[in-house]
Amino acid sequence: MTSILIRVAHPGDAAGACETMRRSIVELCSSDHRDDRAILDRWLSNKTPDSVAAWIADKDNRLFVAVEQGRVLAVGAVRTDGEITLNYVSPDARFRGVSRAMLARLEATARDLGNDAVRLVSTETALRFYLSAGYRQIGPPQGKFGTTSSWPMRKELPPVGERS
Ligand SMILES: CC(C)(COP(=O)(O)OP(=O)(O)OC[C@H]1O[C@@H](n2cnc3c(N)ncnc32)[C@H](O)[C@@H]1OP(=O)(O)O)[C@@H](O)C(=O)NCCC(=O)NCCS
Repeated sequence: MTSILIRVAHPGDAAGACETMRRSIVELCSSDHRDDRAILDRWLSNKTPDSVAAWIADKDNRLFVAVEQGRVLAVGAVRTDGEITLNYVSPDARFRGVSRAMLARLEATARDLGNDAVRLVSTETALRFYLSAGYRQIGPPQGKFGTTSSWPMRKELPPVGERS
């Protein structure tokens, strides 16, 4: 993890961020999409350089990239109201601590924006990851993009000064 930098995304990151998210969905999230073409098409439909550029420019959104030697290894985003909307790691960087570090950055950003909690909808793929990071399920699984097991989750954030 030492050479990986997590920073605020800029417009020039849109294409690399898009490619990383698409590979993460296709190659890592098969427990969710089960290689079903219709589900994948829906899930990938807004993972385009133009939509990523719009998310970067959105003033109610904070989008971050993890980069190593100029390559985008992960993408994360949190809205100003504390909703985490993106957290995707490249298959080339799986289990190197990148998503954990990205999640910490998203939570710190949400806290700095005045939120007492963060919420997200987890993939089946990432459920264990979020449970081990202190998130709890707050409802039954939802369908998302045609999948049947996306989990609404929430985590209370420690007050400023109590962060680990
Ligand atoms: C599961 C995933 C999120 C973990 O992220 P990562 O960057 O690869 O892994 P990290 O090194 O940051 O975190 C490791 C943690 O993942 C969890 N984990 C380990 N193996 C796992 C597995 N096979 N499946 C799910 N979670 C696993 C554990 O909690 C582990 O923590 P530990 O090492 O303390 O036990 C990632 O590999 C993944 O599959 N992402 C796909 C995209 C996705 O679903 N994103 C969430 C959108 S809501």
